[in-house]
Amino acid sequence: MAYGLLKGKRGIITGALNDQSIAWKVAELAHAEGAKFVLSNAPVAMRMGEIHKLAEAVNSPIIGADATSDQDMDDLFRQSVQHLGGKVDFVLHSIGMSPNVRKGKAYGDLNYDWYKQTLDISALSFHRMLQSAQRMDALAEGGSVVALSYIAAQRVFPGYGDMADAKALLESIGRSWGYYLGLEKKVRVNTISQSPTKTTAGSGIKGFGGFYGFAQEMSPLGNAPAEDCAKYCLTLFSDLTKYVTMQNLFHDGGFSTTGVTPEVVAHFIKKE
Ligand SMILES: NC(=O)c1ccc[n+]([C@@H]2O[C@H](COP(=O)([O-])OP(=O)(O)OC[C@H]3O[C@@H](n4cnc5c(N)ncnc54)[C@H](O)[C@@H]3O)[C@@H](O)[C@H]2O)c1
Repeated sequence: MAYGLLKGKRGIITGALNDQSIAWKVAELAHAEGAKFVLSNAPVAMRMGEIHKLAEAVNSPIIGADATSDQDMDDLFRQSVQHLGGKVDFVLHSIGMSPNVRKGKAYGDLNYDWYKQTLDISALSFHRMLQSAQRMDALAEGGSVVALSYIAAQRVFPGYGDMADAKALLESIGRSWGYYLGLEKKVRVNTISQSPTKTTAGSGIKGFGGFYGFAQEMSPLGNAPAEDCAKYCLTLFSDLTKYVTMQNLFHDGGFSTTGVTPEVVAHFIKKE
């Protein structure tokens, strides 16, 4: 059921790779809620082609932009404002990748060039994006920005490797920009810390199935699906949350504040 929550709003949605992507679900819902937006992804991801199907379904153009390039970010905001016919009311940062995690490097054996790439793609890109938006004066008064994070920013999850450091930095960047953009034009900036979700990025993590199952048993509501993460993003883009900013918001079915559950304990009770 659509509520017209984003009627008249203009946005940029990054990171829709395929129909499993959280950003893909955000785009479908934002379209249903009346928003007009631009889709963006790294040129290499666009060549895989699936995003074109989404673009057609939600009647949006695609602007290729590598989140590690200052020039691409400037072009993204300039072209988006032009295409949308006005400043941008909402932005979704849904970008993450670690070459170390992909190649199964242990935390004590990181390749530092790859580590820098992890931080650049998954965290500095959020800073770069907002610095560019500010430079281009592309954000509308009272706008809203959301980036997606994971609880490994606060706690150790073996296997998540240098992405944990990237997420900690991402959340800090969100807080800092929330302060500056709030003062400047009442723009809100938040991160959503999402449950493990079966997407290309999620499944690339060694032992993902175990993380997923553990979180499922440790969450009274169960793991939050990608569609529900999209719904949460939409509430933050809407005018219903105008004073929520500089927060890391857990969207995890209760995982982050659950100590233990009978389901998890059952694994450790010796069978008589
Ligand atoms: N899947 C999970 O379990 C989970 C949990 C919590 C948070 N997240 C976060 O959600 C976000 C979206 O991931 P997803 O799970 O939907 O997976 P996904 O693989 O569908 O999305 C990741 C996106 O990042 C894009 N990307 C990578 N390098 C880029 C670059 N240089 N420039 C621009 N885009 C680039 C990819 O093309 C892809 O579209 C990520 O930040 C991820 O860390 C995922």
